[in-house]
Amino acid sequence: MKLNKILLIHGPNLNLLGMRETDIYGQDSQQELFQFIDSSFPKIAFIFFQSNHEGAIIDALHNHKDLVDAIIINAGALSHYSYSIRDAIKAINIPTIEVHLSNIDQRESFRRNLVFSEVCCDTIFGKGKHGYIDAVNKFKDRE
Ligand code: DQA
Repeated sequence: MKLNKILLIHGPNLNLLGMRETDIYGQDSQQELFQFIDSSFPKIAFIFFQSNHEGAIIDALHNHKDLVDAIIINAGALSHYSYSIRDAIKAINIPTIEVHLSNIDQRESFRRNLVFSEVCCDTIFGKGKHGYIDAVNKFKDRE
C-alpha cells in the first residue's frame, strides 16, 4: 500500500487530554500528541480530526474515503458500543487501526468490549502515545 496520507480520528473527551485523568491518559494535551505524531513521520501527511459526536465521526470517515491511504482511530468510549462507526469503517474499506492510550484490559469490564476490532487490521492499547507510532509503523510494514 502507498502511505502518503493518514486520517487520525479522535472521539469523545480526547480533546481534554492533558487535563483529564492524567494518571491514565498522560500529561500531553491532544495538540501535543498530534504534534508528536506529526513530527515522528515527516514524510507522511496527517489529517487530525476530533469530535465528541458520533455522526460527525461517521461523516469524517465518509468524507475522507477517497482522500487518505489509511486511518487510525481512537473513538474513546464510542469504541465500546458504536455499531454505526463500525459499519462506516467497513463501508469505506480503507485499512484502519484502532488505538487506545490506556490498558483497556485492566480497567472496567465494559472497556473490554471493542466493537470495531473485527473491521480493523489491528488494535493497539496500553502504550500511551507510542501506540499511535506503532500503528503508523504497522502500516509502513505493509508498504
Ligand atoms: C480510550 C479508552 C476508552 O475506554 C475511554 O472511554 C476513552 C479513551 C483510551 O484511549 O484509552 O475515552 O479510548
